[in-house]
Amino acid sequence: MPIRPISRMGHPILRERARGITPEELRSDEIQRLIDDMVETMREAHGVGLAAPQVFEGLRLITAEVQPSPEDEDEGIPLLVLANPAIVQVSREMYDDWEGCLSIPDIRGLAPRHIAVRVEGLDRHGEPVNVTAEGFFARILQHEIDHLDGILYLDRMKDLKSLTFIEEFEQHWLPREEEADELPG
Ligand code: NI
Repeated sequence: MPIRPISRMGHPILRERARGITPEELRSDEIQRLIDDMVETMREAHGVGLAAPQVFEGLRLITAEVQPSPEDEDEGIPLLVLANPAIVQVSREMYDDWEGCLSIPDIRGLAPRHIAVRVEGLDRHGEPVNVTAEGFFARILQHEIDHLDGILYLDRMKDLKSLTFIEEFEQHWLPREEEADELPG
């Protein structure tokens, strides 16, 4: 099924609270098709997560996936589809890291997120699931679940000073990050 168009910042659907889905509704052909389309759209756009409002559907539905990268010894994150996801537990500690969003193309910014979260929801068959996530995975879940409440990562930024276009990020911010990574200890 088709790749769906992605809503961009400024479209009201990105600022609305999405509605929950019943398990029966979740099993319908229409929602199953939507899930397949979201997965395909996320992969085609090289995204690591997608929320239904980003494909113009005001439903509490998210997908996430990170392809493994053998050269970085990164196992990736297997495909996750969650309906009605709810963050039920968070680590007290938070950390800043770079975020982007398919609905805000070509821009990045530093946003604070909880280091770890526990999320409950339904899988695509309507069965309850419980996900514990840390680091990047936890960040993706917080970002996508925010979309369901009309919140963008820009709203989470402490200030907008790190807001940067990707080209400028690579020129001016990335070298600094790499330098910092090389510091001993
Ligand atoms: Ni996003």
